[in-house]
Amino acid sequence: MTKPSETTEDLLVPIFFMGKRYDVPPSLTIQKALEYAGYQHIRGCGCRGGVCGACGTVFRIPDSYKLQVGLACQTVVQPGMHLMIMPYYPGNRSSFDIEEMNGTGGEVASLYPEIFKCIGCNACSQGCPMDIDVMHYMAQAIRGDIAGVAETSFDCIMCGLCASRCPAEEVQFNIAILARRLNARHIIRRAEHLEERVKEINNGKFEIPLRDLMSKSKEGLKELYKSRETEPQMSEDDWKPADARYV
Ligand code: FES
Repeated sequence: MTKPSETTEDLLVPIFFMGKRYDVPPSLTIQKALEYAGYQHIRGCGCRGGVCGACGTVFRIPDSYKLQVGLACQTVVQPGMHLMIMPYYPGNRSSFDIEEMNGTGGEVASLYPEIFKCIGCNACSQGCPMDIDVMHYMAQAIRGDIAGVAETSFDCIMCGLCASRCPAEEVQFNIAILARRLNARHIIRRAEHLEERVKEINNGKFEIPLRDLMSKSKEGLKELYKSRETEPQMSEDDWKPADARYV
């Protein structure tokens, strides 16, 4: 008996978006699957590359009681998945004037006193699509280690999924961005070369070269681009780990 050949429909898997069933190819991310199903992303989509934090998604898969979170642009669909995209998570956000602050842990604690309610359950870190140790930077915030919070949370994309999992109703992502701003404004050493360059710009050093650039034709710009100074090309050896180069 000949086996009937598989049709495209046989290869599709069901997913449920806002409760409605769609059959989609199993290799697609949630974001692409929804486009396949006919949706246009007006909200909940930015970079498509896992860095803008606009596509936070909450989902369940069959036979699991677990509510899971992920980025729609990075998470591949699973058969029977029920999902909902949360382009914005309504976290508490304090207002402040960074110029009026000094970069102390006390300032963070007075703007977000709920940091002391953290119960150390680690649900925030488990929900983070960037694999940030969120619970660790919350502990740093409690200790007043602002530079530590800034460093640990450096890769945060502000999707809010940490806060969505928190039983203590913390707003980890907003606390982290406050710490990074305080760190940049009041704690780390100011970049002398940057101040020097800003002075040069204000004194008009680049006015003439800029005007010259703006007057060029498209062809002229292409030529200029081709003749630009570039860094030397790296050889294949440069990419190998140091101890593998001479094997
Ligand atoms: S679209 Fe930017 S993180 Fe997913």
